[in-house]
Amino acid sequence: MTAARLSEPVRPQPKTPSSGPGERPVPAMTKRAGAAVERAVERHHRLWGAPELVSRAPGRVNLIGDHTDYNDGFVLPMAIRRDTAIAVSRNPGGVNGEVVSEGFGRAALGPRQARIDSGHWAAHIRGVSRLLGEQGVCPEPWRASIATDVPIGAGLSSSAALEVAMGQILLCLAGAEWSAAEIARLGQRVENEILGLPSGIMDQLVSASAVAGHALMIDCRSLQSEPFAVPAGSTVAIMDTNTRRPLVGSAYAERRESCERAAVALGVQALRDADLSDLERLPGAPATVRLRARHVITENRRTLDAARAMARGDAEALGALMSHSHVSLRDDFEVSSPALDQMVEIAHTIPGCLGARMTGGGFAGCAVALVCTDVAEEFCAVVEQQYRGPDGMEATVWVCEPASGGSVRAV
Ligand code: GLA
Repeated sequence: MTAARLSEPVRPQPKTPSSGPGERPVPAMTKRAGAAVERAVERHHRLWGAPELVSRAPGRVNLIGDHTDYNDGFVLPMAIRRDTAIAVSRNPGGVNGEVVSEGFGRAALGPRQARIDSGHWAAHIRGVSRLLGEQGVCPEPWRASIATDVPIGAGLSSSAALEVAMGQILLCLAGAEWSAAEIARLGQRVENEILGLPSGIMDQLVSASAVAGHALMIDCRSLQSEPFAVPAGSTVAIMDTNTRRPLVGSAYAERRESCERAAVALGVQALRDADLSDLERLPGAPATVRLRARHVITENRRTLDAARAMARGDAEALGALMSHSHVSLRDDFEVSSPALDQMVEIAHTIPGCLGARMTGGGFAGCAVALVCTDVAEEFCAVVEQQYRGPDGMEATVWVCEPASGGSVRAV
């Protein structure tokens, strides 16, 4: 595993996670991306003395390829320079695991964790620990302090960052070595089996294996991935509507079910194996099932085309594909929202915007734009000025460099 990076300053986030009792909150204006590692280490020091190891894993933004991962398709995400960090020490004689998380409080992990309350903030951690235990990975008792700079519920994969950071540090404590794909699969199983969310593998895989300076083209069937640099002269901007809607109980599961119905009706293993002409073979299917299938089929094609555009450094083509993707997610897959649509429309009116779309699961959270580098900072300021969400809510927009995947280092 490689050394953790302490990354560069970025624009401040809108909300500061509240701190535990008796601790000073971190002022939003002074908070830096990359500071999560420092905060986790510093708090561990304060509570229990020096940590032995620190783990970090990033959130992600998806450039194109949404709702394709659970259809065995293609995705093109990149890690962002905002991490979840976990500082850990061994605690001989203690409970199995003890964790303190910035903004959430304390939780203990019992030796067996037979039942996990999926609504509890520590469910991800308990889930990682339990699934590892079932596979014989049982580190001696430990204490952990967690901090994050990944906005929660914004569609930037804060859950995956936590699962990957936790998985890799418990493996390290236990002296076990797993591949990034195995760690990602562990995180996905926590979502599917412990939290009851039928999500795909994209978020965890990019958090675990991203390559700095690149987006990762992932084949979600083989889990093979290939890095592609953002075309020279263009820059990725993340546009947070600051609207939030958790995936739990949402239309995500319904969308996935429609895709599976379409695949069964077409007699293919997954929609990745279908093409547009196959849609004619779905005459009896409800209109929504055809629309969902059309999105997945066209999105897979756009994602492959986007990787080719990146390979030849063609920012204009990449931007145009991103904009088409938004239309498909909005009209065929119906996972956008008025706030996301407004954000994307504003982005398109600003000179230097090459393309824009919602990103991730949808319904709320963030959109992403590809913009000419020379106007990128101005672009962010103009979007923030022009956007007004529900109840006058303001946007948070920032330029984002592709970061590296998760890592663990000794402190
Ligand atoms: C969420 C899920 C991912 C993926 C995206 C949509 O982020 O966790 O697996 O399905 O939505 O692309």
